[in-house]
Amino acid sequence: MKYEVLKFTRESCISFLQSLLASGLIFAKEDTKMKDTFSVIHERKSVRNFTGDPVSKADLDKIVRAGMAAPSAVNMQPWSFIMITERKVLDELAVGLPYAQMLTEAGAAVVVCTEAERAYEKSKDLAIIDASLAGQNILLAIEALGLGGVWTAAYPYADRMQHVRAVLCIPQVVIPLNVIPIGVPSGKDKPKDKYKKEKIHWGRW
Ligand SMILES: Cc1cc2nc3c(=O)[nH]c(=O)nc-3n(C[C@H](O)[C@H](O)[C@H](O)COP(=O)(O)O)c2cc1C
Repeated sequence: MKYEVLKFTRESCISFLQSLLASGLIFAKEDTKMKDTFSVIHERKSVRNFTGDPVSKADLDKIVRAGMAAPSAVNMQPWSFIMITERKVLDELAVGLPYAQMLTEAGAAVVVCTEAERAYEKSKDLAIIDASLAGQNILLAIEALGLGGVWTAAYPYADRMQHVRAVLCIPQVVIPLNVIPIGVPSGKDKPKDKYKKEKIHWGRW
């Protein structure tokens, strides 16, 4: 029986690695740099300071898909999402939202909407809970992509919801839960350590 001697030249190693990458058995450097779930959860923070750079459509697609992956009561998925990249619209939203002025520096925004009629038992409470979970998925996806975002409230404030409805032509039955400005973080905002041992009750209250 003959054995062939393998010669590991630089070229053969590169070619072997390239075929592994192409097969999907190993991932490119960019993918291996992605943060693990716990890092994303603990490093997420409200980002209110942006560089002003745009956010790509590809990233916005990943972000909204993460929103739709959220759980919902009886899987009713009562949510809808408005993805905004137009500068003029971002600025118009900022005019009626005093606590969302960072919209003027953001590259994009997503508005998470929900409908009582489409939620389990037509419950407004469940509609809000379901859409809030989608909102949190969106915030985590933003962090995972190295972007920054912040939940700014529309619900439960009648005046803010009305402003968001007017700017985005949202029907009256639809609740705009929030406006989440998204952008490239300037680096100013840091995660907070919120761990408090006394908040945990093991077994009973
Ligand atoms: C329901 C809700 C409403 C919020 N509304 C606003 C808002 O209108 N403007 C804002 O700048 N941040 C808003 N925030 C962000 C909070 O201020 C922020 O999550 C909190 O200070 C904790 O900081 P962290 O997100 O960096 O952990 C809101 C967050 C939640 C959950």
